[in-house]
Amino acid sequence: MSTAWTVIVVVALTLLLLALAVRIARRFEGHEAAHGPPSRSRTGDGGPSRDAAGSPVTEALAKAVAAAGLAPSIHQPQPWKWRMTGDGLDLHLDSSRPVDVTDPDARLATLSCGAALHHARVSLGAQGWRATVTRMPDVARPEHLARVQADDPAPKPIEPLMVRREQTIGLRHTDRRELSGRRVGADALAAIITAVHAQGSLLHVLYPNQVLDLAAAADLAQGQTDETGWLAELASWNAGPSPTGPHDRPALFAILYGRGDQPINWLRAGEALSAAWLTATEIGVSLLPLSATIEMTHTREAIRVLLTSVGYPYLVLRLRTTDQDDAGQARQPQLPIDQIPSPSRSA
Ligand SMILES: Cc1cc2nc3c(=O)[nH]c(=O)nc-3n(C[C@H](O)[C@H](O)[C@H](O)COP(=O)(O)O)c2cc1C
Repeated sequence: MSTAWTVIVVVALTLLLLALAVRIARRFEGHEAAHGPPSRSRTGDGGPSRDAAGSPVTEALAKAVAAAGLAPSIHQPQPWKWRMTGDGLDLHLDSSRPVDVTDPDARLATLSCGAALHHARVSLGAQGWRATVTRMPDVARPEHLARVQADDPAPKPIEPLMVRREQTIGLRHTDRRELSGRRVGADALAAIITAVHAQGSLLHVLYPNQVLDLAAAADLAQGQTDETGWLAELASWNAGPSPTGPHDRPALFAILYGRGDQPINWLRAGEALSAAWLTATEIGVSLLPLSATIEMTHTREAIRVLLTSVGYPYLVLRLRTTDQDDAGQARQPQLPIDQIPSPSRSA
C-alpha cells in the first residue's frame, strides 16, 4: 500500500473514532441531565430536554396546577383548562361550558382564570422555579389566556415570602359571615393596595358617601342576584347614618379597577384579586368579592362614575378584619382529577 493510501486510511479511522467518542459523550450527558439536580428546564443549546414525565419541571408544573385548583372562582366553578406542553403550561378559558347568562362576556370567568394563573405562579415560585408568563399569546384564539414557561430554577434559598404565600393558598377561603372585627388599619390597607399594584391593577377605597352610591347600585342589582346577604349589608348603609357616624362602620368597600376593559385586563385583575386575597389572609383581613353590581352594564357604569371614569371597575371588595382567634380553615384541593395534566394528557 502506498504512503498516500496509508495516510488516507489512518485519517478516516481517526475521524470515525472521534465521531463515536462524541456520540458516547452526548449520551452520557443526557443521562446526567435526566437524573441530576434541576439545572435548566430548557437547555436551548441542543442538550437534552427535561420535560419527560416525572422530571422536576413536570412535577413542579403539576403542583402548580393543583395549587391553581384552590383559586376562587365565580358561578361556574373553575372555568379554566390547563394543558401541559413540555416545560410549560397553557391556560385556557373553558369554552365548553354553557354561556353564563350573568357573565355573557366571560369577564368574571376570565377574572377567575387570572386568579388561578396567579396561584400557579406563586406555586412555581415557592418550588424554586422562575416562570415567564405570556398573556393572550394567540390573538386568533382569545380563549388561550396565558402561557406559563418554567425557565430556570430560582436562586437559592427560595424567598420565604413565596413559601408563605403558597401555604396561604391552602388557608384562603370565602368568608361570608357577618364579621364583627375592627376596621382595617392603614398598614393592612396599604399592604393590600401594594399587592394589587404589583399585579398591574388598582384599588380605590370608597369614601363613606361613595358607599351610599354603591349601595344604590346594589339596590338596582337586587332581584337579579341571590347575593342577598351582601345586599342587605349594603342596604344598611342606605338606612341612614349610624348613631356614631359612617366612619365607625367596620367594613371598608373598595373597587378593584384598571385602565382597560379587555380580556387581558380582566385576566390581570384576577391575578391582582388573588394577590390581594392571599395578602389579606396573611394579615388577618377578610376579603369578600361582590360581583352582582359588575354583572350588569348599567350598575357597572354607575360604579365607573365612582372612579370618576378614570378606569374600569372589575370587582367590588368588602374588607374587614377577621376575629383574632379565627385561624382559618384548612381546605381540600378542588381540582378534579382529570384536570391534573400529564404530558400525554392535555387536560
Ligand atoms: C370573580 C369572582 C367574583 C366573585 N363574586 C362573589 C360574590 O359576589 N359573592 C360571594 O359571596 N362570593 C363571590 N366570589 C367568591 C366565590 O363564590 C368563591 O371563590 C367560590 O365559591 C369558591 O370558594 P372559595 O373562595 O372559598 O374557595 C367571587 C369569586 C370570584 C373569583
